[in-house]
Amino acid sequence: MEPNLKQVEETLLAYKQEHVLTVLRQLPQAAKEKLAAQIEQIDFESLFKSIAEQNRQPVSFNEPISPIPFEDWADYGEREQEAFTERGWELLRSGRIGAVVVAGGHGSRLGHEGPKGTLDIGLPSRKSLFQLQAERLLYLSRKAGKAIPWYIMTSPDNHEATVAFFRSADYFGYSARDCFFFPQNTMPALDFNGKLLLSGEGTIRLAPSGNGECFAALKRSGAIDDMKQRGLEWLFYYNVDNALIKVADPAFIGVAASHDNPIATKAIEKTDEEEKIGVICLKNGRPAVLEYTEIPDKIKKEKTIDERLFYGLGHISIHLFKLDFIEAHADAEIPYHVAAKKMDVWDAEVGLIKPAEPNAYKLERFIFDFFPLASRLTVLKTSRQEEFAPVKNKTGVDSPESARKLIRELHMRWLQAAGISTEQLRNAEIEISPLLSYGGEGLRKEEWLEILKQEHSNK
Ligand code: UD1
Repeated sequence: MEPNLKQVEETLLAYKQEHVLTVLRQLPQAAKEKLAAQIEQIDFESLFKSIAEQNRQPVSFNEPISPIPFEDWADYGEREQEAFTERGWELLRSGRIGAVVVAGGHGSRLGHEGPKGTLDIGLPSRKSLFQLQAERLLYLSRKAGKAIPWYIMTSPDNHEATVAFFRSADYFGYSARDCFFFPQNTMPALDFNGKLLLSGEGTIRLAPSGNGECFAALKRSGAIDDMKQRGLEWLFYYNVDNALIKVADPAFIGVAASHDNPIATKAIEKTDEEEKIGVICLKNGRPAVLEYTEIPDKIKKEKTIDERLFYGLGHISIHLFKLDFIEAHADAEIPYHVAAKKMDVWDAEVGLIKPAEPNAYKLERFIFDFFPLASRLTVLKTSRQEEFAPVKNKTGVDSPESARKLIRELHMRWLQAAGISTEQLRNAEIEISPLLSYGGEGLRKEEWLEILKQEHSNK
């Protein structure tokens, strides 16, 4: 349908976007229609409402906060751990589990060109984040004898590149039938005076509007229908950038299914008050996460008498959602969080501007804002060393280098548990393929001694 140019002009005037109107009027017909069509898609009302609300009071601060009850995997006895894990395997074997990775973000802190999941973090195998995840899923699905459908959320910016990456790698051995790529929503960026920004001549600057768009995008793309047809019950949700992610972890599935709350989430103990992870808690008596960028200092720094963080349950973006919960809430109007970011913009006189300082408001929905919609949340505390190696920065903390180190240390511990001594592991370049072992099981001492011997002689 052709855009209604008159209506578009009126909207721009009503929302004080005269600068866009000037650009629009100067464009040749085809480009004018394209820009007008883009403007027609913008929900100006929620855009300005979100900015106004956030300016009044940031999303996380307005209700009473208290700690949330949780369980610790390490506190379960061996028999209990086995029972939970077996319950998870039953669900995997009966095809009730799918996985969704949110991979629509920009990864600007990392400075990697291309989708974040395509990043090679420099492991000896040179596997990308996507490949590590695919192989962990494959290991489980082969053992379970049932496919684990994998839903990959992209953004309009990286959709094609993501799909092309999977295609060129032949889906890492996954069946193409079981990989479902779906793009998320975007929102326009605004400057600090509430003006729309442009990314090129005649194009509004849009940005992916947060991982909280996941459910709506699953619905819009037909992925929820696909899940229902396959008979899924739970969806395992995770960030693309965690190099240690135990995708579709049977133990976690077992715990979630046994408690049968609509959502389960994994947590770790925060290293210190400044660690850049959210905090899981109760807000106004309901499950919630306070994001690290928004958490008030007083809550962030509060300590117990034994000097531990009072709010120390770190959120690592590993969840299980019941499919019926997702379906019931896919259209929920969760809030937009507003943050000042650096964004490349286009100016009629200067051309493309790459700012050195934040220049734009970005609006994002956060997946954990669905938590309060569930009356109860299962929180399972787990081992940081085994499960959390985020890759967010180019160097230093949470970088490819720190993730490589964590993977290597974990795999060393697995081999030590299989009977190999520290001496035998000295200077070895260790990496165990997820196709061989998911959590350290099935590693045979003799075989690994042979591998280590060969590696040593190749040096
Ligand atoms: C996120 C969590 C934080 C948690 C941390 C653990 C949010 C808002 N915050 O922080 O509470 O402690 O992970 O590592 O989730 N994404 C999209 N589309 C978007 C934006 C992001 O798919 O529009 C994806 C990213 O690709 C990434 C994930 O969401 O996989 C997290 O994104 P990011 O915005 O980088 O949040 P973090 O700062 O990592």
